[in-house]
Amino acid sequence: MTTQTYPKIRKAVIPAAGLGTRFLPATKAIPKEMIPIVDVPMIQHIVEEIVRSGITDIVLITARHKHSIEDHFDFNYELEDTLEKKEKDALATISKSLGKMCNLIAVRQKMPMGLGHAVLCAAPVIGNEPFAVVLGDDLIDSTVPCTRQLIDIFEKEKTSVVGVMEVPQADVCKYGIVGGKMLNPRLMEVERLVEKPSPAVAPSRWAIPGRYVLTPAIFDCLREVKPGAGGEIQLTDGLQLLAQRERLLAYQYDGVRYDTGDRLGFIDATLAFSLRRPELREGVIELMKKHMGALK
Ligand code: G1P
Repeated sequence: MTTQTYPKIRKAVIPAAGLGTRFLPATKAIPKEMIPIVDVPMIQHIVEEIVRSGITDIVLITARHKHSIEDHFDFNYELEDTLEKKEKDALATISKSLGKMCNLIAVRQKMPMGLGHAVLCAAPVIGNEPFAVVLGDDLIDSTVPCTRQLIDIFEKEKTSVVGVMEVPQADVCKYGIVGGKMLNPRLMEVERLVEKPSPAVAPSRWAIPGRYVLTPAIFDCLREVKPGAGGEIQLTDGLQLLAQRERLLAYQYDGVRYDTGDRLGFIDATLAFSLRRPELREGVIELMKKHMGALK
């Protein structure tokens, strides 16, 4: 294995082509990525993490009926003009800031062939550069954005790195799980990856909650892997091949993760994010007391 030199990480991929069936009926006519946590769509939280990590070129892997995501990160002259005429300048500024936040490059995943296939759809835009992948169902709340933490490891180690968190044994079947050699208590050299293993065969309790910084060698790996779990091209299987060809690291990031693809995880994130809003905090606490009282 050779150590290559790579340019800076300039691009991030957000796979957002899924049907969002776990959130039906909400997702019948709107993309799940546009469902808000309080008043901020989930995808905006993801884009903000990427932008705070120093990346503004974002490749959105999208599908039919998902135009509203692109509209959200564009200007809306009619809305902004109306807000300004009504002297609601603060709201107009918020709307305009979304138009300036990033350069969104939309690529269609024309068939639902899995997460690995979705990432492969970005290959023509990414080219021969390292890049980040950020999944939309996982919100990670941290002082240093999770993607930035991984970029820092990438810049130091000059090799691909996946973010991991330790999960209970019973939950390993929900994630891609890594196994390998511990380099320090928070860093592992990955030798094996298994997508959603049963607890009996899981190589560890280190789970990937949807944050990756990868070298472009992943694309050839994804082209070569056969459909895996669920008949789909799995990113985890591509990463297993990558680990055989290059060094692949797993880093236990700092931060609290919310699984917003799950109903309870979504409610958890909604409560956590609303409690830290000064204008909502007291009202939310009162509501919680009211509902707790109703349970007695
Ligand atoms: C995907 C990945 C899995 C990862 C998970 C994180 O699974 O395939 O490896 O751990 O995201 O949320 P999904 O939840 O889309 O089935």
